[in-house]
This record gives sequence, structure tokens and C-alpha cells, in this order.
Amino acid sequence: MCGIVGYIGTRQAAPILLDGLSKLEYRGYDSAGVCVFSDAGFQIEKTKGRLAALCELTQDGASLKGTLGIGHTRWATHGAPSHENSHPHLSSNGKICVVHNGIIENYLLLKEYLLAQGKTFVSDTDTEVAANLLEYYYEMEGDLLRAARRAVEKLSGSYALGILCADRPDTMLAVKKDSPLIFGFGKGENFIASDVPAILRYTREVVYLNDGDMVEFTANDAKFYNTLGEVVQKTPEHITWEMSAAEKGGYPHFMMKEIHEQPKALRDTINPRIKNGRVVLDDIKLTPEYLRGIRRIYIVACGSAYYVGCLGKYILEKTCRIPVEPILASEFRYSQPVLGDDTLVIIISQSGETADTLAALREANNLGARTLAIVNVVGSAISKAAHDVIYTWAGPEIAVATTKAYSTQLSVLYLLAMYIGDALGTLPGAEYNAMCKALLQLPDRIEEILTKENLAHIEALAEEFKGHHDVFFIGRNLDSATCLEGSLKLKEIAYVHSEAYAAGELKHGPISLIEDNTLVIAVSCVPELFEKTMSNVKEVKARGANVLGLTTANYEHEITKTVDRYLLVPQTHPLLQPSLNVVPLQIFSYYVALARGCDVDKPRNLAKSVTVE
Ligand code: G6P
Repeated sequence: MCGIVGYIGTRQAAPILLDGLSKLEYRGYDSAGVCVFSDAGFQIEKTKGRLAALCELTQDGASLKGTLGIGHTRWATHGAPSHENSHPHLSSNGKICVVHNGIIENYLLLKEYLLAQGKTFVSDTDTEVAANLLEYYYEMEGDLLRAARRAVEKLSGSYALGILCADRPDTMLAVKKDSPLIFGFGKGENFIASDVPAILRYTREVVYLNDGDMVEFTANDAKFYNTLGEVVQKTPEHITWEMSAAEKGGYPHFMMKEIHEQPKALRDTINPRIKNGRVVLDDIKLTPEYLRGIRRIYIVACGSAYYVGCLGKYILEKTCRIPVEPILASEFRYSQPVLGDDTLVIIISQSGETADTLAALREANNLGARTLAIVNVVGSAISKAAHDVIYTWAGPEIAVATTKAYSTQLSVLYLLAMYIGDALGTLPGAEYNAMCKALLQLPDRIEEILTKENLAHIEALAEEFKGHHDVFFIGRNLDSATCLEGSLKLKEIAYVHSEAYAAGELKHGPISLIEDNTLVIAVSCVPELFEKTMSNVKEVKARGANVLGLTTANYEHEITKTVDRYLLVPQTHPLLQPSLNVVPLQIFSYYVALARGCDVDKPRNLAKSVTVE
């Protein structure tokens, strides 16, 4: 959500800003703008819609001359996507120019105060309040740094701010709290950005700013300050991954590329953590004594990461015999959860910056639980706030709809389940060994799904079913949790209304919606429940449903007796089976979205990184 890029150097700023913003498109946005500073003062161009429109408006940046500037992609919160509400925003007297990511929660109160002080507003945004508040303190202090410090003291909520001042033509200021911001060191040039891909073409030396950090910088110098206003030294981290990781690499969409990257992502996540047939989690410090004392596990997350948690309930309860409750972060936070030192809270997040998940994590920490985060982005806010972290090594995920991050999160839950189950003696040795073997083979099994023939088969099914407006996913046990993700994918990228229901629950309501030709996707990969699910399939078929079944190859003969069409996946250890089952569902949604003419990588209204509550 919202992307920020800032540049000071000797090159023309606008093309660099536009290029950086293009690398942040994945975050989700509905308008974009840039401000370049030169002798002519601030030159601002902004527009509603895609970045391409801004590029056209500025002739790819050529119309804006100057070597210092800030750029922004906005995901509307306060006020519709419009020219007026797009960033950058100027203060009343035009001296302060600001881009912002996050939400200023007390903006109405501040706006009232600033209006009374004679400040004027042209937008509905909370950001303009920050611009005017900066101006207000700047007039009082006559110093930008002091003004910024006083202004941020008054802000509640979340913010990453890039700030320019007309009196300081060579300087930029940036500050952050609860929204991501990095600083990039160049040679004779410096950068800020919401994420690494925006500036990776120009520098690999970056600092992940902490909450409360402020940086004042020119082309050749950068001074970092902590919350207390003390100067702090920051050592840059060297980014080792290649830009190609954030490019499409020959695939038509990031989503398809990332679906294909799943085997590698899983190998990278699993293999270093299995040594001589044993799970080794050097990353965490959960001792056997601590594990023996756990009475309850919460898995807290949003979106697909939450659905990984729904699978985690079955997996961890089976292997560790500890009650597990998956809960949405936005609900957990305000539910007064009963937590203590006998509760382990597992937080799952690809980005490591989802606002609800981060807040839930802090709440769990405050209430005395131990927190363990499963995160993809190194150095992200969630990875820093949790007691323990296990990284998923999925690499940068750009498509809004997650695929490889989901799969790697699930693989970490397997590792964790084996680790805890082994420590508690609840996972018999033979089972442990079988899981271990199957886990190491998962990437190969996924490769078997990603063959040309399979992709063509799924594409043909997508073409056949693309016209359906209501789809029901049904399954039992682990399959019911896979259905949640399958259904979300179809909603997210193909804009098809779909529901996921535990197959046994269908008769308690949704079956009334089944009519002639309604599409039902039945996932039936839990061997001992195959017959039960098929009974539910018969119930919907009796009411006219068109059924697409998904099962393991060894059930092909059986499934043909009941469903209209089917998809097969290789068979693996029953607990690991969901890792394979989700893949054809990802591909199915991808092809349905394509067939319906949707923007697969950047679905409408969605953001990859949801930094607001
Ligand atoms: C957004 C993304 C989803 C993701 C969810 C949680 O909705 O589109 O793909 O599952 O946020 O994000 P996180 O970064 O915390 O995993």
C-alpha cells in the first residue's frame, strides 16, 4: 500500500523516481505523483490511475527538470483516488512538500487546529495535515529538523514520510513509524524508498529504518537520528539478491513466474533446516522445557497467511497434541485474548509489515506470550518485533496474490510441527521420518504438477468454467483449509464470487444456493474422508451442480465415478498433501483471471502490503 521513492544526486530525478515507483506497483495503488525541486521551485505532476498515465504526463520524467525529488503511489484511504488527493502534497504556503505512507489517525483533530491557525487544505487526505503541521512548526522553529521532530510528536498512527522544504534546495528529510522505509547509500547520490526493488538498480547498500528514526540527507551526506533526537550511526546492509528476482524473467506475469518458483523457494526454505534426517531450527530459541509448558498455540495472520494458519491447526494438533487456534489478526487484536507464558503465538506474514498482524504481535508481546514470526521479508517490522523468527526463503514476491510465500509458510509449519512434536515425544519416530522424507521431496512433486500438459489441461478447464459467477469450494479436514485459499485466489484475481465450505457443513445453508450448472470444486485428498466428500458431491450433483474434483493420482478411478471433470495431483504424506493440492488451484485461478481479461498481478482494489488497519 502506497509506495515512496526519494532521490538526491546529480542525475535527473524524475526518471529515477518513476522507475522506482514502477518497482513498487506491486504494493497496490490507484494514483501516482512526483515532485521535482529545481531553481523553478517545486514542480508537481500527479494523476489518478496507473503509473503509465503519470509517465505519459511527464514524458517519462523528461518534462520535470531537477536532481532532487520525491515520488509516490497512493492507495486511497482518506478521500477517493483523484488529482487533489494524490501525493505529493504541499503545505498552505507551498514551502513544505510531503509524501506519506500510512494513516494519521488523529488527523481530524489536527486539521481543526490547523484550520484555526489559518492553514488551508485542498484535499481530503490525512497527509495534507502532516504537510501543514510541518509548516506550522517550521514557522515557529525556523529549522526543518526541529520542526519535523515536533510535528511527528503530535502524529498518532502510522507514517513513512518523505519531506522537502523550499528553503533547503539540497536536502531531504525522512521519518518513519509503523510503515516501512529504507535508506539507500549511493555514490554522490542518496535514496529513500518503501522497498528495496525501487532502488536496487542504483544501490545495494541500504539501511532499514527503525520506528522513530529520522534521516536528514543531501547527495553526499546522511545523518540519522533516533526518537530522542540523538545522532545514531547506521551500518548499511548489502543486498545480495539480483534484480532479476523482481523481474518477470520471460513469464507473462509475476504470478505465473512465482508459481513456477515454488520448487526452488521450498528447497531454499526446507533443505538447510534438515540435517541428517533431523529438523534443525537454529533460528529459534524454543527449549524442550519451554515447549513442554505450552498449553495453547495461536496462529495469527491475515489473508492467505491466515489460511496457512488454518492448515496449521490440523498439522500441529496432530503432531504436537496441543490445542491450536488460527485467528485473524484484525480480530485477535481486539478480542482480549487469554494469553500468558504458556501460550505460543505464531505470527505469519509474507511482507512482515501488515498493520493488523504487527499490532496483534505487539499485543501478544504485551500480554506476556512468547511470539514466533514466520516472515519472508528480512528486517521487516514483524521480524524485528517477534521473540523468534523463522524466515521463509521465497525471495521477493511481487504479484499481489501470494503463491510461493504461501507455500513456504506452510513448509515452515511442517518443520515446526516436526520440531515440537519430536521435542514433546508426540510424533512417533516412523512418522517423523516419513514426514521428513516427504518434505524433502515436495519440490520434485510440485515440479510434476507444473508440466506443460498439466498447465494446458488446467487452462482448458479455466476456459470452460470462466463464465461462472458463483463457485463453491468444498472439502473436509485439511482439504477444507485448502479450499479457503483456492476460493480466495479466485475472488482476488478473477473477481469471481466464491465460497469455501467444509463439505459436511454444506447442508446447513449453502446447499440452498446450488442450482443447475452451479460450479462446485470438490477437493478430496484426505484418503479416509474420500467417500464422505464424495457423498457431499453427490448431494450437490443431485441438485444440478457441475463438479470439478481435485484428488490424488491413486484416486483417479474412484473420482471419475462421481465428478464431471477432475484434476490430479501426486500423492504424498497425508499431512503434507495440502502443499501439492493448492498448486493446481493457483493455476486455475490464474487462467480464469486471464480468460476474464483481469489484471492478474495487480487486481483492482487490492494491495500486496496492507499497512493500514
Ligand atoms: C494482502 C495480500 C495477501 C496476503 C495478505 C497478508 O491481502 O494480497 O496475499 O496474504 O495481505 O499479507 P502478509 O504480508 O502479512 O502475508
